[in-house]
Amino acid sequence: MSQSLTIRRPDDWHLHLRDGAMLQAVLPETARHFARAIIMPNLVPPVVTGTDAAAYRDRILAALPDGMVFEPLMTLYLTEDTDREDVAAAHASGLIKAVKLYPAGATTNSASGVRDFDKVRGVLERMAEIGLPLCVHGEVTDAEIDIFDREAVFIDRVLDPIRRDTPGLRVVMEHITTSNAVDYVKANAQDLGATITTHHLIINRNHILVGGIKPHYYCLPVAKREEHRLALRAAATSGDPRFFLGTDSAPHTDPLKESACGCAGCFTATNTMSLLAHVFEQEGALDKLEGFASRNGPGFYGLPVNQDSLTLTKGEVVRYPDKIDTGDGPVTVFDPGFEVHWHVTT
Ligand code: DOR
Ligand code: ZN
Repeated sequence: MSQSLTIRRPDDWHLHLRDGAMLQAVLPETARHFARAIIMPNLVPPVVTGTDAAAYRDRILAALPDGMVFEPLMTLYLTEDTDREDVAAAHASGLIKAVKLYPAGATTNSASGVRDFDKVRGVLERMAEIGLPLCVHGEVTDAEIDIFDREAVFIDRVLDPIRRDTPGLRVVMEHITTSNAVDYVKANAQDLGATITTHHLIINRNHILVGGIKPHYYCLPVAKREEHRLALRAAATSGDPRFFLGTDSAPHTDPLKESACGCAGCFTATNTMSLLAHVFEQEGALDKLEGFASRNGPGFYGLPVNQDSLTLTKGEVVRYPDKIDTGDGPVTVFDPGFEVHWHVTT
């Protein structure tokens, strides 16, 4: 007898869609299963103003194939020059659902991010007033901090001070990778949530480095030790509403990944729902998948849960493409390293 599970249609609370030919190719991979996604603003140049976000939203909607329904939830890229009233107006009009904080230099296209956190204090205070969440890439960038410690150090040195200085600011710790982040979320009852990616539930740092370097497993924040992966699995499958899915699906073409200085990002849009069903089944928590993928995110953002549904059915091995062809070149789909049997039907 085949096992099946029907859940409300999921959303992706952290997604990179890029622009142009790449956007055209990767958007259907997300829209096939997800109703909405929080769209990352780290384009070149970044999406900084309300005007930029409106134009980007229109390009996304124009790239959506006929017959697909998808709502991009737009964000602004926080810079030291961001105008708080532009942010407030973009929020009031319903255009944006969050502002994204990249510490300058932390990751792909983050050069325009924040160096001096005092310079964004006014924007953060305005966001706290109007209830607009701040999505945070939580890594320090100091050269002397080991890359595997950058998330934990960020929590102590940057995030906790910002939250203490800005009461009422709603914060999403994005793509958390450590037990430190899980513990920090659990210890803070109010105004704090965290997204967890599909790939960080599946790989630890050995997967990247043992037996040869695997560029398609390299992302930021980089996967940590096994104990951290297990802490993420426990958090995601716990039913705690502060943890929800943000895939951080981040396409780069193969030549840019398979390079002497490869780009960070795992492309998981295509197979995320099958992989999550596999992970949640392994954890004996299939009943918690709907909360993680479809309910907790809307709960945090104050949005309705999707009305339509998605069904996962266990059967033969699921076949999905190794690569997606894009006008910019091939993009490799995340390979979990095991077979999955959960088929998605909508
Ligand atoms: O792995 C990542 N890729 N992490 C990020 O923070 C950015 C993203 C990208 O834009 O490629
Ligand atoms: Zn990201």
